[in-house]
Amino acid sequence: MKDINQFTITEAVKKSFRTEEGSRFKFLLEKLIDHLHDFTRETNLSQDEWMRVLTFLYDCGKISTPERHEFILLSDVLGFSALVDMINTRGGATEGSNLGPFYLDNAPRKRLGADIAGEREGVSVLCHGVVRDTLGHALPGAIVDTWQADGSGTYPIQEAGQDKYDLRGIFEADGEGRYYYTTVLPKPYTVPYDGPVGDLLRAGDRHAWRAAHLHFMIRSPGMRSIVTELFFENTDYLDNDAVFGVRRSLVAKLEPYKPGKAGDIELERQPDAMIGFDFVLAPA
Ligand code: BEZ
Ligand code: FE
Repeated sequence: MKDINQFTITEAVKKSFRTEEGSRFKFLLEKLIDHLHDFTRETNLSQDEWMRVLTFLYDCGKISTPERHEFILLSDVLGFSALVDMINTRGGATEGSNLGPFYLDNAPRKRLGADIAGEREGVSVLCHGVVRDTLGHALPGAIVDTWQADGSGTYPIQEAGQDKYDLRGIFEADGEGRYYYTTVLPKPYTVPYDGPVGDLLRAGDRHAWRAAHLHFMIRSPGMRSIVTELFFENTDYLDNDAVFGVRRSLVAKLEPYKPGKAGDIELERQPDAMIGFDFVLAPA
């Protein structure tokens, strides 16, 4: 009989899986086993420590519901979600950033120039720009799907009695690839910290705040879709966003609204301020 010890167990575990040779699944599984075993050897992990990890993961599962996915939040605060976004950003395209938990795939279609704020108070902002490809050509008809928190840092979907489709909408870029709509300036808000991930943040003396942002999903036929966020220059938490979502290229300047500066466009509501950002999509 073959013996196994702490140095041979890694190969033994990998061999025990009769997974298809050369498959991506086999590659990922073996890498995962390699890295987890190396972590265990390098840290000289005790049984109590490993049990604490498993109990923590169990608690993440216990608090999760269809509306609350604690493992995604864990991935977010440990920077894994951001790392996956970074690795999957194509050269020349707009950098990707967090999808977050508040995306709805059935947001209402809205006309260019519409206001998505409903009755909400706050600084009214014109959000505008052009969707292009990596060669700089406009992408007419590109889809700009957006969602965001309000002027107090709350998503309408989080509050009973609010219209969950406010502060979100799907716009179709015009013949020049332009998109434009008005909204209210969102405030920073905290990621949920009343569960195990909150305990982890507290244990690491970390806060739960996200920099104020607008979410976007941009699509165009034949192009690789992007999920990203737009942040506002000189606002709080840009340097220490709880989920590492901020990239310098995604920070734009909020300026006083100047009629005509965004071109000849018709707006449903007269804004106080404006922010311009062009999205760039790479070929699929
Ligand atoms: C958000 O941006 O909405 C978000 C992202 C990660 C965790 C929680 C919320
Ligand atoms: Fe968000």
